[in-house]
Amino acid sequence: MFTSVILAAGMGTRMKSKMPKVIHTVCGKGLCRWVIDASKAAGAETVCTIIGHEAEMVKERLGDVCNFALQAEQKGTGHAVMQAIDVIKSAKGEVVILNGDTPLVTAETIKNALDYHKSCGNHATVITAVLDDASGYGRIVRGADGGVRKIVEQKDASEEEKNINEINSGMYVFDGESLVYALSKLTPNNAQGEYYLTDTLEILLSAGKKVGGYAVSDNDEIRGINDRVQLNEAEKLMQRRINETHMRNGVTIHNPESVYIEDGVKIGSDTEICQNVTIKSGTEIGSDCVIGSGSMLDRALIHDKADILSSVIIKSEVGSGTHVGPFAYIRPDCTVGDNVKVGDFVEIKNSKIDDGTKISHLTYIGDSDVGKRVNFGCGTVTCNYDGKKKYRTKIGDDCFVGCNTNFVSPINVGDGVYIAAGSTITEDIPENSLSIARARQVNKEGWKDKRR
Ligand code: UD1
Ligand code: MG
Repeated sequence: MFTSVILAAGMGTRMKSKMPKVIHTVCGKGLCRWVIDASKAAGAETVCTIIGHEAEMVKERLGDVCNFALQAEQKGTGHAVMQAIDVIKSAKGEVVILNGDTPLVTAETIKNALDYHKSCGNHATVITAVLDDASGYGRIVRGADGGVRKIVEQKDASEEEKNINEINSGMYVFDGESLVYALSKLTPNNAQGEYYLTDTLEILLSAGKKVGGYAVSDNDEIRGINDRVQLNEAEKLMQRRINETHMRNGVTIHNPESVYIEDGVKIGSDTEICQNVTIKSGTEIGSDCVIGSGSMLDRALIHDKADILSSVIIKSEVGSGTHVGPFAYIRPDCTVGDNVKVGDFVEIKNSKIDDGTKISHLTYIGDSDVGKRVNFGCGTVTCNYDGKKKYRTKIGDDCFVGCNTNFVSPINVGDGVYIAAGSTITEDIPENSLSIARARQVNKEGWKDKRR
């Protein structure tokens, strides 16, 4: 059990964005939210996020997943942590400090750092990394005995200190009481005139407390995002992590570099994902499905054995054994049943399509309730909109809809109805009828010669 404090008040100038940096997303989840979720997965009891720049926007985006403390003016990382002083004072267990712009940090690393901190009996432990290029980071200065002495910022470092390649990740574990004490002693006497959280280590050492450093095994975990190039680098790493997790769970992914799956997607075993597929958060896919190239699924619920080829499905459900595509567009609020066929260039919106129905080609079904085992001919259109209002079309079970039929809704079609090709249906049809709604054909023989 511990408390985590997440620093997220900065501007993020280099993002060149109207949005604060920490709500930019990696694989569908805000930078800061990744850090909050990692803390919680590591066992954080309380999470307090320090917000400042565009605080309302950050708060609104994150919702009630954590507590917030406001840092109205950004006077440094130490000053940021001071804003959570009440939370820190009432914290049970350790206080873990994290940055809101390091989405790749894992629960594992947070737990390992906590274990290390406790097993050494430290009052403060800084999470470090050894980098080939340490420029820009605070450097970890160690004494002859190998113990951490202090952290110097790049701007305050001597030439010799600049050669150190062990850096401060900006993440720490503190004993709560020691942290409260050290914060009370901070001063802004440095190159940037800020309250540096890093100074707490020296303060604790001079008070006779124990300070240590825990080096991460994977340097990617401490990557901070400052601009959109780094945002993309982090997203690539996260994409690889997410895809590998699915593959390890029994999902086949062809050319995973081209497959973008957001956070929180569920996929059953023996499902195959082909290349160039996008699967957004809120999607659940069953077992033994095939998601063919070029598909985009957003908040879709796909049941077992469905196959989706080069199609877009948004906020809709697709039953098991159902075939969709190529080039179908299932728009929000559709429920498509089991063993349905939704073929090429078919668009469905806000409709229920029951089991065994076939909508094979070039068809628009909007605001409709379609029964079981209905067969739609090519080019069927529900005329659901009169320019002002939308109306529903209801079609019973076992109907046969001829090619090029229009339903001028509102329309009710009973069970077992046959509709002649080319019909424009403007009135309800009783069950088991044949409906023909088109002009009778007239052939005027010899017309071409009489025309002159
Ligand atoms: C900080 C560390 C440095 C470390 C680096 C790791 C200090 C003094 N330096 O430097 O040793 O190597 O992080 O990335 O701590 N923030 C606030 N309020 C503030 C200032 C910052 O909330 O007043 C937040 C920022 O939004 C950011 C985090 O704290 O999420 C780090 O701040 P940043 O300005 O990036 O610190 P660095 O100079 O990179
Ligand atoms: Mg930084």
